[in-house]
Amino acid sequence: MDWQSLAYAVVQVAHNFGAAAVVGGAVFALWLAREREGRRKLAWLVLAGWVVQGASGASFGAVSFLYYGKFPDIAGVAVAALVVKIVCAAGGFVLAALYLRAGGRWTEARQEQAWRGEAALGATALTAAAFLRWFA
Ligand code: HEM
Repeated sequence: MDWQSLAYAVVQVAHNFGAAAVVGGAVFALWLAREREGRRKLAWLVLAGWVVQGASGASFGAVSFLYYGKFPDIAGVAVAALVVKIVCAAGGFVLAALYLRAGGRWTEARQEQAWRGEAALGATALTAAAFLRWFA
């Protein structure tokens, strides 16, 4: 059994489902789930998705460190793409947490803006993932 590949694959499963949760949750809230309770459930899903992305993203680095004793040697575009993903994950998490805490008191327009923001952060991170993958 190739334990290193297994470890990367398990982390990738979490990372892929996390990506699906943040992007899918926001898209669903914007186009299909317009009522308050449904949107709150989606906000929890999106919040959990950002946590999973942060934890599984860090786990990629941890697996590399475990097997090679160092983090992947990346530079230039790959570093920029990684920074973009981290900023998106932090911003998306804060926005979802704010929505869950105070969104009920926001105007309809402001709630809509928050979901558009979540969708944009998810799409940006997903785009950055492609650049990290091929420039790393
Ligand atoms: C703290 C945030 C994040 C970190 C540290 C992180 C880190 C990583 C790393 C190290 C990889 C493997 C790169 C490679 O294959 O060379 C990866 C892959 C990937 N990440 Fe992230 N990531 C983060 C957030 C996100 C977010 C928010 C999304 C999407 C919403 C995302 C989507 C993906 C996808 C789709 C891949 C697979 C790319 C491929 O193999 O084609 N990541 N990520």
